Amino acid sequence: MKKETLSSPEKIKVEPATTRTDTPQTEVGSVFVSNYPPYSFWSEDNITEVQQTLQQTSSAQDNLGLYLHIPFCRKRCKFCYFRVYTDKNSHEIERYLDLLSKEVELYADMPAIAERDLHFIYFGGGTPSFISSKFLKNLVTRVTAAMPWDKALEVAFECEPGTLTQSKLETIREVGVTRLSIGVESLNDAVLRENGRAHVTKEIYRIMPWVHQLEFDQVNIDLIAGMVGEVRQTWEETVQKAIELNPDSITIYQMELPFNTVYSKQILDKDGTSLYVADWQTKREWHEYAIEQLTGAGFEVSSAYTMVKKDRPNQFIYRDALWHSSDMIGAGVASFSHLNGIHFQNQTHWKGYLDSLEAGRLPLNRAFKISAEEKMTREMILQLKLGQIEVGYFRKKFGVDILEKFAQPYRKLQKEGLLNFNKDSVTLTVQGLLRVDQLLPEFYAEKYQNARYT
Ligand SMILES: C[S@@+](CC[C@H](N)C(=O)[O-])C[C@H]1O[C@@H](n2cnc3c(N)ncnc32)[C@H](O)[C@@H]1O
Ligand code: SF4
Repeated sequence: MKKETLSSPEKIKVEPATTRTDTPQTEVGSVFVSNYPPYSFWSEDNITEVQQTLQQTSSAQDNLGLYLHIPFCRKRCKFCYFRVYTDKNSHEIERYLDLLSKEVELYADMPAIAERDLHFIYFGGGTPSFISSKFLKNLVTRVTAAMPWDKALEVAFECEPGTLTQSKLETIREVGVTRLSIGVESLNDAVLRENGRAHVTKEIYRIMPWVHQLEFDQVNIDLIAGMVGEVRQTWEETVQKAIELNPDSITIYQMELPFNTVYSKQILDKDGTSLYVADWQTKREWHEYAIEQLTGAGFEVSSAYTMVKKDRPNQFIYRDALWHSSDMIGAGVASFSHLNGIHFQNQTHWKGYLDSLEAGRLPLNRAFKISAEEKMTREMILQLKLGQIEVGYFRKKFGVDILEKFAQPYRKLQKEGLLNFNKDSVTLTVQGLLRVDQLLPEFYAEKYQNARYT
């Protein structure tokens, strides 16, 4: 087992998510590729284009999703990079939810959105399960009055184990949630405590019987390989215990340290010299162990992160829609949206977000109008995370032969043992899957390489 002291690269601007330098240690900077081109290239100057796009009618047939950001948590985990608040009282939460509903109402009246059915809904966070049953019911009543979701194929909802009670789970089921995702992260109390998680393992074992009784269409649990203090033995125990929890899918993230985490700040302030986290090679070995064990327990690979139980119906519409350029309205502070070729993000701070909505304006912050070529690259990159892409899909949708277009990087990655291709498809090897985010910058246009990611 390799264990290394975290390094402190004070002047990092170039992040792993935009470069292929394979640093052995877990350094500060984003690794996870969630979009392309990198967010640092999005700009306030493109907001007018968003407003114009919203005024144009879109095809009622195009898939449309709704993301609702609930940015509250009981405690800030030391590794977390999401926009979350741990200090808001019930009045402030009520005001936020009121204005979040107002945001959805504003969108519902726009020509680009009006008359369109919702295909999927995603409650993300932060911790959607943090809010009370009463607040959740009120939110759903207002949101569905503006944008009905009775035809939606999926309503996904993120939970933190310690915020769930039997009656809250019943409410979550009643409002129509089909996919429950639970942040288990580790099944070792010392690891959970060290990383600042608010929950303990006892709470996971308390909620799982209720979760199963309520028969959600799908139950996912998240784990993180390589939390601070994790060692091989604690990881192996976590994987075995996670299988025993009997979820429909298990998502495994390898621990990363983007700039805005508590741990990253400690490291950059040179206060983190005593922190220990596994290096990338070790995390990949642990992740590979999990893939092997889960395969033995009847799971199969659904993406580089998620393994699904073979004998059960499994879909993840939100993920697939995002990776195939579906339209999606992201409501809530710092949320991301995409509409007909324009990607945009909301105001990232509490006051700016709420003040805009109180003044009756959409809280837009920055945007990026994607070119046809960038859109094709974006989909190719994100769908590679599924483990396999079809050449025919890109020929049909974009009129592009990806084998020709990306011949050089495909050959390079094949030589490295990370992917294989034939005339029909490109497939990642297990080693490719284990470092998918690290290999994707190989496909970026030159101007987007070696840059700040967020
Ligand atoms: C919004 S949280 C899930 C719901 C809830 N807030 C919770 O944590 O239980 C999304 C997931 O991102 C993952 N995550 C957060 N920070 C991470 C990091 N620095 N590295 C890897 N995964 C991370 C965790 O697995 C977490 O469950
Ligand atoms: S990982 Fe989840 S619970 Fe922890 S701070 Fe982030 S959003 Fe909140």
